[in-house]
Amino acid sequence: MALRLGDPAPNFSANTTEGPIDFYEYLGNSWGILFSHPADFTPVCTTELGRTALLQEEFARRNVKVLAVSVDPLDQHLQWRNDINETQHCSVGFPIIADEDRKVATLYDMIHPNASATATVRSLFVIGADKLVKLMIIYPASTGRNFTEVLRVIDSLQLTANYSVATPADWKEGEDVIVVPSITTADAIKKFPKGVKEVKPYLRYTPQPNK
Ligand code: BEZ
Repeated sequence: MALRLGDPAPNFSANTTEGPIDFYEYLGNSWGILFSHPADFTPVCTTELGRTALLQEEFARRNVKVLAVSVDPLDQHLQWRNDINETQHCSVGFPIIADEDRKVATLYDMIHPNASATATVRSLFVIGADKLVKLMIIYPASTGRNFTEVLRVIDSLQLTANYSVATPADWKEGEDVIVVPSITTADAIKKFPKGVKEVKPYLRYTPQPNK
């Protein structure tokens, strides 16, 4: 059965551009991003991996380790990585899994046969430090992902994991957040000393609590 939010992220061992890894050992106590791309030496994928490499400090600041995957072999990954570094002006430092036997693609349901019988689609999983699946986004091969959005969602996931808040539409780090419905306004006022603005009994805003 396909993975769902809240499920344990399946562990695996794999060969990568950074050597053999055990996924859970690689993650350690960090959060993780596991993202697939359809094929090496393709233009959209080249920009995606380059963008991810350029955002490496942003991921590290959020305690997130990145791992890319496609069903191409290791020697191709290594050659393609040179192209990515050259054309995207970056240095890819995260592992790219050579998933020739489709073990990872199958575990994470990354091949959608009606889109492509053989290549992985653009799946992206965010995995929490507890090794549970926190986010899944799936894009077609023709549409490159928005990695600013990926960082934004990670900010929301990490905030809402620690405080009784949710984030509104288009929220960005530093903006007001929403008090979760399970907390009464009286309790929210005690819990959020920066203030609670009640627009409706079910719609209460408070400044981001960890800022
Ligand atoms: C790309 O990464 O550029 C790509 C891959 C497969 C189909 C279309 C585009």
